[in-house]
Amino acid sequence: MRKVIFDTDIGIDDAMALLFLHYARNVELRAIVTGFGNASIDDTTRNALYVSERFNIAAPVYRGAAESTGTSLFDSYPDFVHGKNGLGDVDIPHISATQESAGGAQAIVDIATANPGDITIVAVGRLSNVANALKLCPELPQLLRELVVMGGAFGFNGHRGNVSPVAEANIAGDPEAADFVFRSGIPTTIVGLDVTAQTTMDDDFFELLKNKAGDAGQFIFDISRHYLDFHEQHTGRHACAVHDSSAVAYLLAPELFTTRDAGVRVVSTGPAIGQTIWSDPEVSYQTGAWSELPRCRICTDVDSAGVLDLYRKTLLSAVDNS
Ligand code: BDR
Ligand code: CA
Repeated sequence: MRKVIFDTDIGIDDAMALLFLHYARNVELRAIVTGFGNASIDDTTRNALYVSERFNIAAPVYRGAAESTGTSLFDSYPDFVHGKNGLGDVDIPHISATQESAGGAQAIVDIATANPGDITIVAVGRLSNVANALKLCPELPQLLRELVVMGGAFGFNGHRGNVSPVAEANIAGDPEAADFVFRSGIPTTIVGLDVTAQTTMDDDFFELLKNKAGDAGQFIFDISRHYLDFHEQHTGRHACAVHDSSAVAYLLAPELFTTRDAGVRVVSTGPAIGQTIWSDPEVSYQTGAWSELPRCRICTDVDSAGVLDLYRKTLLSAVDNS
């Protein structure tokens, strides 16, 4: 069983990733930690509680970072992507579930300390919570089993950025946090646009989920309308990239991904703010900024059909097991 903390700015594709984790065999979801990003911290925390209550997800919900730890590319929330409520503006009824009293960063520290070597964080929003947890507990790199991050873009398969020519949204929303985390020595795998934008879900895929994956499939179909319309305006296709669920797919089936090890740093100011840059560990550079960086694992290619198949089978198993 993989013991997982899901760190999320829960918008549309985050909710899809949460259901992927929830219905996956071999995953024990220990906590959901929220962060600002796709919507405000109030909205993302409400969304986490709503999805948890509707789908009987037992993991406690902790409210995390409300703002970036440093400079950010953004000064507003992307309602044009995820809707004003972060879930494609579907009706969200009153919920009775409540958040835990501890904050998100403290929860990461407490759970990792109680389970040394066992916890994997799947982080699909800004890295603010993980950075704050590192500040609370500098031993965190030795306590965690792994950190799987959806974020960044390294230029593989032609993907460099989705919010600027060189930056991806999760990293651009808190570049200093990302740079701090990637230099911390936490065993980290980065699932960036290089692979997430290679895999797409189209109308047929969402129809199939709606018809065969029960209430989860209906919910995913409903929230995805807004997301698909946004993507269609940009690509001309009523289909979306598979961002956050690709990080879950890496956790469940790393053999679907090609990776390489590299030092990673993030640009935290100027027009390239949020750019993720990898350095070759075999090369000796002429500047201290790149020497002796801990190695991260970055994903460079993906078996897209395999990722889609895994998502479909996992969601359909929700009906088989009900
Ligand atoms: C990332 O940004 C957010 O909009 C998505 O939820 C995903 O985590 C993709 O760049
Ligand atoms: Ca996200």
